Amino acid sequence: MKFNLSEIQEIIEERRTIKPEQFSDRKVHKEIIEKMLNAAKWAPTHRLTQPWRFTVFTNDGLRKLGELHANLYKELADEDSFSDRKYQTLLHRPQMSSACIAIALKRDEQERVPFNEELASVAIAVQNMSLVATAYGIGTYWATGGKVYSPEMKVALGYDENDSVLGLLYVGYPEREWPRKTPRKPIEYFTTWVDSED
Ligand SMILES: Cc1cc2nc3c(=O)[nH]c(=O)nc-3n(C[C@H](O)[C@H](O)[C@H](O)COP(=O)(O)O)c2cc1C
Repeated sequence: MKFNLSEIQEIIEERRTIKPEQFSDRKVHKEIIEKMLNAAKWAPTHRLTQPWRFTVFTNDGLRKLGELHANLYKELADEDSFSDRKYQTLLHRPQMSSACIAIALKRDEQERVPFNEELASVAIAVQNMSLVATAYGIGTYWATGGKVYSPEMKVALGYDENDSVLGLLYVGYPEREWPRKTPRKPIEYFTTWVDSED
C-alpha cells in the first residue's frame, strides 16, 4: 500500500458539516485556508478547464458578506415569505465563522465540456478543501440557502452570466466535541455489480 489508507478513510468518514452557530472563537490561520485551496486545485477536471473559483472572506470581509447577503435577501424575498429570523441568520453567520468561502463555477468560454462535468469538478474541489479542514479538526458547512443562487449575488461577486455561484463554505473550529457521524446507506443500496461476459 502506497499510502495510509486507514487515515484517509477516517478523514473521509469524519468530515462533518458544522454550522457557524457551533463554531468557537478560535481563528483558522490563513496558512490553513491556503492549504485547503491548494488541495482544491487537485480535483479532476475534464480538459483541465479548472472551473472552480473561490472568494475567501475573512476578518471585516465577513461582516461585508453578511450585509451583502442579508440585504439581497431583504430586497429579493417576497413580502409574504420574508422572515426576520432568516435575515438575521444570513447577516450574522459569516461573522460567527473564521472564514467563509464563496464557491463558484467559471464556465469555460468555449464550453468545451458539459456543465455537469464542470459542476462535478467544483464539488470535488470543495470536498478536497473539507477533507483538509477535517485533518486539522476544522468543520465546514456548504450552505446554499438565502440568495446564494440569485443573479444579484453572481454580479456582486464579480461573475458573468454563464458562471454559477454554488454556495458558501463556512469554516471554523467546533466549540464542542466533534459531531457524530451522519447516517449512510450500505454499499448494497447504491451499487449494482455486473460480473458476466454476456
Ligand atoms: C451542495 C450542497 C449544498 C448544501 N446546502 C445545505 C444548506 O443549504 N443547508 C443545510 O443545512 N445543509 C446543506 N448542506 C449540508 C448537508 O445538509 C450535509 O452534508 C448533510 O446533512 C450530511 O451531513 P455531513 O456533511 O456532516 O455528513 C449542503 C451540502 C451540499 C453538498
